[in-house]
Amino acid sequence: MIPVTLRDLLRTVLFLLVITGIWWNVPSRAANSSQNPWGGNYFPNVPLVTQDGKQVRFFDDLIKGKVVAINFIFTGCSAACGMETARLRQVQDLIGPERMGKDVFFYSISIDPDNDTPEALKAYAAKFNVGPGWTFLTGKQKDIDLLRNRLGLYMPPVDKEKAKLGEIDHDLAVIIGNQATGRWQKASPMENAEVLATQLGSWLSNWKVKPAQQNPSYANAPVRLPELSKGEEMFRTRCVGCHTVGQPNESARAIGPDLTHVTRTRQRGWLVRWLKEPDAMLSEKDPIATALYEKYNKIAMPNLKLTDGEIESVLSFLEKGSAAFQAANSAKK
Ligand code: HEC
Repeated sequence: MIPVTLRDLLRTVLFLLVITGIWWNVPSRAANSSQNPWGGNYFPNVPLVTQDGKQVRFFDDLIKGKVVAINFIFTGCSAACGMETARLRQVQDLIGPERMGKDVFFYSISIDPDNDTPEALKAYAAKFNVGPGWTFLTGKQKDIDLLRNRLGLYMPPVDKEKAKLGEIDHDLAVIIGNQATGRWQKASPMENAEVLATQLGSWLSNWKVKPAQQNPSYANAPVRLPELSKGEEMFRTRCVGCHTVGQPNESARAIGPDLTHVTRTRQRGWLVRWLKEPDAMLSEKDPIATALYEKYNKIAMPNLKLTDGEIESVLSFLEKGSAAFQAANSAKK
């Protein structure tokens, strides 16, 4: 699990510097692939099993020559991993089905292989309705620990009980990389999906911005951020992976309900408490919460640990978003 030789150790440290963006020269120099230091000697070729029970090797079958996004999850972690899965699903949609699985590959690797059998991973993928080009993997604990180490995402063993309650105690970052050119980058869990999709897309030939990304309010976000209200910014960073507002037609694949008019359909007190402790309300079997939970594939809304001020901001954004939607709609009529 710990790198054995000094050279190995130095390379791991170098890789960490690269992905954290501290040392950018390395990837550009490594664009000459003969010098690419992150090859089969760096990434272990450990055996893994897919959600369909297929045996694969990490380096040869999953990343060699490919543009990839890799994260670590476990199916028992409802809150934090669910958020991460939701965000990657947005990235997947932005990349588009014609590219996913051909030019770009996503891998979610279980850090709880004892419980995460291929069947459990398959059920998890189905619950989140993930599309093609995204593989869920499990394997031997020691091989997975080694991978996490090499990818710079190793943390001490997970406290699964805490994680179930939404405490984030494994590294939720996504590593994105282009193995052929040696470009690797670590994206924080709060980075928005457009930024990630744009970065992955920039490594592909003939990458075209999809129409959805030309929508000025959204696509330009990574380049030139318009003045965002605090509530809107929160919505974009914390909620948008699972919810829409003012776009009921685009919510067909959404993980959670469209939130247009929710500030009218629900009582204020209920909403405030829901945003503060959805986990508690679900475990108390609050009737509205339970009905929604059943309807939305039994994916629990995560406790995002919002402060009272953040709750106020996001609710006022939802109010404004709904009003804007209504105004736009009545203008059409
Ligand atoms: C990982 C996905 C996910 C994230 C992230 C998420 N939610 Fe939810 N949300 C859900 C799901 C799923 C439900 C339906 C209830 C359930 O299954 O727990 C829900 C329900 C709701 C409801 C109740 C809707 C109704 O019809 O009454 C509101 C309001 C809500 N979420 C607001 C938010 C806000 C605001 C954020 C961001 C600060 C957020 N959610 C982040 C998944 C998510």
